Amino acid sequence: MPQLVEKSGRYALMVDGAPFLMLGAQVNNSSAWPSQMDKVWPAIRQLHANTVQVPIAWEQIEPVEGKFDFSYLDLLLTQARENKVRLVLLWFGTWKNSSPSYAPEWVKLDDKRFPRLHKKDGARSYSMSPLAQSTLDADRKAFVALMTHLKAADPDNTVIMVQVENETGTYGSVRDYSPAAQKVFDGPAPTALVKAMKARPGTWSQAFGKDADEYFHAWYISRFVEQVTAAGKAVKPLPMYVNAALRDPINDQDPVTYSSGGPTHNVLDVWKTGAPSIDLIAPDIYMPESVKYSAVLGHYDRPGNALFVAETGNAIPYARYVYDTLGRQGIGFSPFGMDLTGYANYPLGASKVNAEMLEAFAANYRLLAPMARDWARISFEKPVWGGSEPDDRSPQSTTLGDWTVHLRYGKWQFGASDWTWLKDRPTDPAGPNGGAVVAQLSADEFLVTGRNVRVEFGRAAKDGKPYMLARVEEGHFDNGQWVFDRIWNGDQIDYGLNFTDGSQVLRVKLATY
Ligand code: DGJ
Repeated sequence: MPQLVEKSGRYALMVDGAPFLMLGAQVNNSSAWPSQMDKVWPAIRQLHANTVQVPIAWEQIEPVEGKFDFSYLDLLLTQARENKVRLVLLWFGTWKNSSPSYAPEWVKLDDKRFPRLHKKDGARSYSMSPLAQSTLDADRKAFVALMTHLKAADPDNTVIMVQVENETGTYGSVRDYSPAAQKVFDGPAPTALVKAMKARPGTWSQAFGKDADEYFHAWYISRFVEQVTAAGKAVKPLPMYVNAALRDPINDQDPVTYSSGGPTHNVLDVWKTGAPSIDLIAPDIYMPESVKYSAVLGHYDRPGNALFVAETGNAIPYARYVYDTLGRQGIGFSPFGMDLTGYANYPLGASKVNAEMLEAFAANYRLLAPMARDWARISFEKPVWGGSEPDDRSPQSTTLGDWTVHLRYGKWQFGASDWTWLKDRPTDPAGPNGGAVVAQLSADEFLVTGRNVRVEFGRAAKDGKPYMLARVEEGHFDNGQWVFDRIWNGDQIDYGLNFTDGSQVLRVKLATY
């Protein structure tokens, strides 16, 4: 059974008994139909993705209450196996981007049995109340039916993970203000949450002050999701996660303007407490700016949470962020809207799904796919670091043990970084698209790869010793073993280790003398 494991604060998604790196792709929302699949697989193959995220919608599997139809899932499993990729299923249930649009009509049109929440002014929201037992019961029943079918239909675990709901929360109302919800809100805040948040016991307002409304919504949505997840896991204990519609990662933002109650970075502790069966909380990143992107990664790459970029924009500038993600020990990365059904979600993502944008992502996946298992294993065991080229193309650096690592962008392959007479810079690529990942294999040994980047090492230890690149091997992995192809020396190392098209992997030995 696939499993998310943690060891000394490091994570691995174990698949078939070994760490697995998800080089993912998510299809468009309405692509999960038999008629569309021949427009999905060619894009997945072009991408060299090893994992595909596909929605399984409540309305599709239970159009009539109690009558289930898993014919699409069966087809999907067969085709995924033929295409030699793993699947992540996305449960589009009570919440899909905060709305019940993907619930069957017998749910989403029956506001008595499945009530929407009420806004502050008493008006009905479009979004479901997480406090309704009837909604939870119906959603959970459908999800359990899905997991029961999956257990029988997928003994070899083509499906390696399940996303429970999709971008939960509510826009335009911070919580449910219906009379029934208000009564709960005026009562005592749950002890477990008060303790986890180190708050003062009392009513929600007394315990959480100005955050009370948002915490209340986050708590009840997380409790709802917890119960759906736990019931599904009792049938088939796959790793399960939730994804987040983000709020501003740097500045304060009024919760009425984002998906309040969803797992935004400011309520991660609420969610962790409310939904312990959820293995990880993943950001959906549609912010192309490098400063914001790394701020989001920083929020979700935190103790107690494995980093997984569950969705990201499919415009070309997003492709490079796979390196920053992996450098933070991420277990996967997945651009959204990767199929040839003719839809493109510009301006969130690319204006067209075409060969050029697919290639931007494929270039990185082609480099990483052959070593995906190796990277996942090394990343689980050894210190790793990485960087994606910032918008201003400025260098990045870190310290790993006795050594510093520097990433520089827009450099020729020849010429020292401090040669001021080298005025021009390569015009290809035109915009930032570089990045690198580095793993420290032993005190003085590193695995390095990347694209459109120069990697340079320096000495961090204050011992004044001169140092050099003792040996730089280019090679590849075969069956978990490093295979030597050639030595880089002379021009190939005198001006840093310069990666261009992203086809080379190096094993670097540093030494003092
Ligand atoms: C985030 C959602 O999770 C996706 O399903 C999709 O709606 C994108 N936003 C926008 O294309």
